Amino acid sequence: MSRLSATLSRVKPSPTIAVTTKAQELKAAGRDVIGLGAGEPDFPTPAHIRAAGIRAIEEGRTKYTAVDGIPELKAAICAKFKRDNRLDYTPAQVSVASGGKQILYNALMATLNPGDEVLIPAPYWVSYPDMVLLAGGEPVIAPAGIETGFKLTPEALEAAITPKTRWFIFNSPSNPTGAGYTWDELKALTDVLLRHPHVMIMTDDMYEHLAYDGFEFCTPAQVEPALYDRTLTCNGVSKAYCMTGWRIGYAAGPQDLIAAMRKIQSQSTSNPCTISQWAAVEALNGSHDFIAENNTVFARRRDLVVKMLNEVEGIDCPTPNGAFYVYPSIAGLIGKTSAGGAKITDDEAFATALLEETGVAVVFGAAFGLSPNFRISYATSDEALKEACTRIQTFCKGLS
Ligand SMILES: Cc1ncc(COP(=O)(O)O)c(C=O)c1O
Repeated sequence: MSRLSATLSRVKPSPTIAVTTKAQELKAAGRDVIGLGAGEPDFPTPAHIRAAGIRAIEEGRTKYTAVDGIPELKAAICAKFKRDNRLDYTPAQVSVASGGKQILYNALMATLNPGDEVLIPAPYWVSYPDMVLLAGGEPVIAPAGIETGFKLTPEALEAAITPKTRWFIFNSPSNPTGAGYTWDELKALTDVLLRHPHVMIMTDDMYEHLAYDGFEFCTPAQVEPALYDRTLTCNGVSKAYCMTGWRIGYAAGPQDLIAAMRKIQSQSTSNPCTISQWAAVEALNGSHDFIAENNTVFARRRDLVVKMLNEVEGIDCPTPNGAFYVYPSIAGLIGKTSAGGAKITDDEAFATALLEETGVAVVFGAAFGLSPNFRISYATSDEALKEACTRIQTFCKGLS
């Protein structure tokens, strides 16, 4: 008999972490590997934020704090929502956790009963369906393919809602596609949601500040104020502030839901790292100038990757307006055989052969629920990206 719980047997480990680990192993074994799997900026945490962390240590702010965040950070979060999203929240409506991941997990754990459905557009960030399964719910996948710019249409949303739908998870700009919804596109979705008052909205705004070509970010409770009372607006400092390792995520929403999330956190991890919370106060309240500078670099890298991938016959790579990912289709390569003799039956076979034959690590599309595609994270140096795309071009030219 298995020693593991029945719930755990429904869940798979994170494939993006698996690709990163595999690339690190090959590198350690002496292979020339370029890892394009990890979803984190290659830039260091900005100096003023690092200094705030060091100051917290020096000043002895190293004890337990309130379970879901220090008042100073909650105040900074309320100010951020007002400043960036024109949303009014009180500190009692705010929760801080150890990363955006824990925020989403707490919310699902706090609300799902067996049989409850959670609606997730595909392609999706890998953790959504498995977190739903861990919390005892049922992920329901609604396709949002390349033909609609990887965005869910109002018709597809309407068709996927059932009486059992508890949450709709929304993510813009998106991991893995980088696609960001315009105000009008989001309004079309919130119009549908207005007609279904039993559905709660979990919006994952983690890539809010990573936007290019003048793209204007918007979030559901801002676009449709009538949804304010049933929206959990989730965000964090990991990506835009280059703070992935500090582990601070946050959310704002209905006070009873925030209290339920606090209860879960109080019996599991308690407060997020005290030092990181003080660094996050500085991140939210301090200068944001570095974000525009970083975004100039990200946009240049995106253009480089999109151009080089689209030079390959059989690859179709749309230009996204946010995050730091591209999600090209390889429909034109399926059925071919690589120079090393691997049959490209699907995107997983493509990614495996690419890694083995060229040392370039990407994540296959099936992991994100939409095939045949792969995801490249372009949050790495221009030189590495150029070399990786050249290797991808050579690999694809060798397919027959
Ligand atoms: C869409 C999305 N949401 C949430 C997270 C989690 O962020 P954190 O590192 O703060 O837990 C990620 C990280 O990859 C992400 O891509």
